[in-house]
Amino acid sequence: MVNIKWDELGFDYIKTPYRYISYWKDGKWDEGRLTEDNTITINEGSTCLHYGQECFEGLKAYRRKDGKINLFRPDRNSQRLNKSAERLLMPEVPEEKFIEALKQVVNANEEYVPPYGTGATLYLRPYLIGVGPNIGVHPAPEYIFSIFCMPVGPYFKGGMTPTNFIVSEYDRAAPRGTGAAKVGGNYASSLLPGHEAHERKFSDCIYLDPETHTKIEEVGSANFFGITKDNQFITPKSPSILPSITKYSLLELAKEFGMEAIEGDVFIDHLDDFAEAGACGTAAVISPIGGIQNGDKFHVFYSETETGPVTQKLYDRLTGIQFGDEQGPAGWQVEV
Ligand code: PLP
Ligand code: COI
Repeated sequence: MVNIKWDELGFDYIKTPYRYISYWKDGKWDEGRLTEDNTITINEGSTCLHYGQECFEGLKAYRRKDGKINLFRPDRNSQRLNKSAERLLMPEVPEEKFIEALKQVVNANEEYVPPYGTGATLYLRPYLIGVGPNIGVHPAPEYIFSIFCMPVGPYFKGGMTPTNFIVSEYDRAAPRGTGAAKVGGNYASSLLPGHEAHERKFSDCIYLDPETHTKIEEVGSANFFGITKDNQFITPKSPSILPSITKYSLLELAKEFGMEAIEGDVFIDHLDDFAEAGACGTAAVISPIGGIQNGDKFHVFYSETETGPVTQKLYDRLTGIQFGDEQGPAGWQVEV
């Protein structure tokens, strides 16, 4: 057995034994294989290094009570990767290849899938990069698709204890840019705002819509949701935010609870409408938001120290499905 304190894991790189790698050249993918080498050697002119021709995904493997392992909606990650690839003129990774590679990586690193009940999971990071000799601003001649993994705990330090966020004056993506694609450039532009937020002891930034700066878009690493005082689940609708798989799952689960579930405008001046708020995503799971600093105003939602009841109920249902304790909608739980 590997010697890891599962309960103490944060969201940090750990080298696991195997990763999958596949090369695209002359219009086709090779077979792909597992490798123990956690480095890659690429041409100095690779477009991923200069022009940001890269996209990635994030999903998790969950240890069930019976010891088996589930993935959560991996078909959605495959579809989103291919949307991102299309936006950056990269080749599609067929869904069967993507899911088969995920299963190979999970099985090869099985010892690193945290035990049931620890709350920890195996985080999988697929990525697609443009490589090969190049200098002009063109799509690359060759591509690498790879998946590596590591056991992780909570992304935001509090986990299910609320933490505070700050409204950023920067934008992470342009209205008709690449905000809806999971591409490295969006994250590069979020590094400085994220750093400034951390320096001020906030968990992360909340970005406003780049056109009017009046509506919440998302968090640097997760989507935003709020529960209104009349029990609606609302999450922002915008062409420049990441279409979060967790968010779309919560929209469905909120309906199961009889709530009205809406993708719409969340005005930063109307935070009083909300009884509870949270950040949601694969890494973030559901992370309750205690308060939001907006300029010199600090708005507290439910509490700075306790999770609201609706957020808790959604968390319990979502993680119940992810860890295989509860039956989810068809196709959400994929056994490895
Ligand atoms: N928004 C951003 C910017 C993210 O990086 C993520 C993480 O993947 C999300 C939202 C949440 O997306 P998902 O629920 O698909 O993980
Ligand atoms: C994820 O939740 O998978 C993310 O990609 C968020 C962050 C680690 C970039």
